[in-house]
Amino acid sequence: MEYQEIHDDLTSYIINHPVKYLMKSVISVAVLVSFVTLAAAFASCGGGSDKLNQDQQGGASATAGAPPAAEANLAIDLSPEHVALGQATYHTTCAPCHGEKGKGDGPAAVALNPKPRDHSNGVYMDKLSNDHIFKVITQGGAAFGYPTMPAQPTLKDDTVKNVIAYVRSLSATYKP
Ligand code: HEC
Repeated sequence: MEYQEIHDDLTSYIINHPVKYLMKSVISVAVLVSFVTLAAAFASCGGGSDKLNQDQQGGASATAGAPPAAEANLAIDLSPEHVALGQATYHTTCAPCHGEKGKGDGPAAVALNPKPRDHSNGVYMDKLSNDHIFKVITQGGAAFGYPTMPAQPTLKDDTVKNVIAYVRSLSATYKP
């Protein structure tokens, strides 16, 4: 078939079956878009796990100098509403060990050695970065040498941030 014939053929096909032709192009565009989306999703997953590996290696970033600024500077909203939201989660999730006011004197603390950390002790607590506290809450204490502090992997990021706001409110000397 000569080019002209193919061209004429295609033109008459499009004219005779405009809807079918349109559907075909819509479907191919849709397929293309989903491929691109999938590829992007895979790419970001890969990036995420790289980041995780880096974090887990810990020592590597310690020898390479200060941790990335974004990590150390996890922003916490210390306004009263966030502190109150955090207190509610703290009451159910943390107070059994750390006590309502974070003194490390919750009912479960009796059985624990070492005792849960006293969150009202500013001399100790004020030195911990928001990023570190975030990790301790979400990943648990095991990675830092105190396995009796459990991980809370089901808490949403915002909920954890509110809990940190409450923890910060327990130290009279804390300054962001
Ligand atoms: C089962 C008891 C238990 C529960 C529940 C618990 N913790 Fe702990 N937590 C501990 C213990 C034990 C330690 C370790 C004390 C030590 O070794 O200095 C600790 C340590 C910590 C530290 C100090 C981290 C550091 O690097 O020194 C923070 C902050 C903390 N917990 C926050 C929380 C928060 C917030 C919650 C609730 C989301 C929570 N914990 C729930 C027992 C608990």
